[in-house]
Amino acid sequence: MERRAGITALGTYAPANIVTNDDLAARMDTSDEWIRTRTGIRRRHVAADDEFTSDMAFRAVEDLVRRYGEEALAGTDLVIVATNTPDALFPATAALVQERFGLSAGAFDLLAACPGWLYALSAAKAYVESGQARKVLAIGSEALTKLVDWNDRSTAVLFGDGAGATIVEQVEAPYGLAPMVLGADGSGAPHLHAGAVGRCLPNGEPLTDKVHMNGREVFKFAVRVMDTATLEAIEKAGLTPDDIELFVPHQANFRIIDAARQRLGLSEDRVVVTVDEYGNNSTASIPLALAHALDEGRIRDGDRLLLVAFGGGLSWAAGVLTWGGGRYPARAGARDASDDASDDASDDAAGRAGTAGAGTGSEGSS
Ligand code: ACO
Repeated sequence: MERRAGITALGTYAPANIVTNDDLAARMDTSDEWIRTRTGIRRRHVAADDEFTSDMAFRAVEDLVRRYGEEALAGTDLVIVATNTPDALFPATAALVQERFGLSAGAFDLLAACPGWLYALSAAKAYVESGQARKVLAIGSEALTKLVDWNDRSTAVLFGDGAGATIVEQVEAPYGLAPMVLGADGSGAPHLHAGAVGRCLPNGEPLTDKVHMNGREVFKFAVRVMDTATLEAIEKAGLTPDDIELFVPHQANFRIIDAARQRLGLSEDRVVVTVDEYGNNSTASIPLALAHALDEGRIRDGDRLLLVAFGGGLSWAAGVLTWGGGRYPARAGARDASDDASDDASDDAAGRAGTAGAGTGSEGSS
């Protein structure tokens, strides 16, 4: 059979602590109306002071295991954590995940700004399809609010925290990932940077610890690249926009998402929007959006999902994922053992592996 990598299990986590736009308006010069109309964000989930990227990654993997069973994790031989906020530069957060779940696996972190999880997905695909790894645990986990300057209203209102964990392994074509698009343009570094270890950018501009962003420039870049990268990914998959059942973009700003949707000629019911609930939680945003769509029954076995993200670097990534083909039966929506009855479900339900088998893992989320 053609060796092709796909996602066979998904778990997510969002911190219970929710910060609304009104909460922010009480502490800085902004308003719910400004934030909603400019970004589509209504609230965001913010990690507790003592909650870090590794903690959220653990919770997302626990959610994955709860939903798909221990066997989903068994045999994992590589862990990749995509994050811009690792607990430390070393050890890798991925190594902490390896240890926590007793995996006999290599482990590394991947830093590629908001498209990081898609970069991790593309790395996992390459490892699986080359035969170098059998099963990759590809995680996006982000504690971005710890890098936010809460005195800077132009960035503080945008971000949130969370995590998503996925198993990537061999599936049978036509399921799985088509060749992906990866891109970067380092000349855009002055427009978006954070977490300085170095002193300055190559152009001499000083680096800052907190998120620095030229919102208008990033907005223009995002609208442009969401268009070009998605079309390139669709072409690489040998498809046209009409063939896409669901568009699952990075959740940074509703206006950016909607512009991309319109350029692709997709109707509103074919795009997933969760930015209202989470804000921009970077590498966690697409896994969380996928989980919502699965929970709502919007993804069926064989659906072609268009994934795209952009962010600091500047960087971007896109790909088409044909959902399904996992070896485990769906434990649809399983939250406890009583749901084992679903193991008897019809082929149709089993075929929709994970259709409702992923969720926020958060009591506080919608
Ligand atoms: N509340 C109220 N007013 C505000 C706020 C706020 N939170 N922030 C800025 N303003 C003001 C500005 O000061 C400005 O006032 P002025 O006209 O008197 O100068 C006015 O609102 C308009 O500001 P703009 O920056 O032009 O607003 P814009 O419509 O561009 O929206 C935004 C700003 C939401 C940041 C938008 O540019 C955007 O979404 N950009 C892309 C951001 C993004 O996607 N980043 C991805 C980061 S990914 C990663 O890798 C971390």
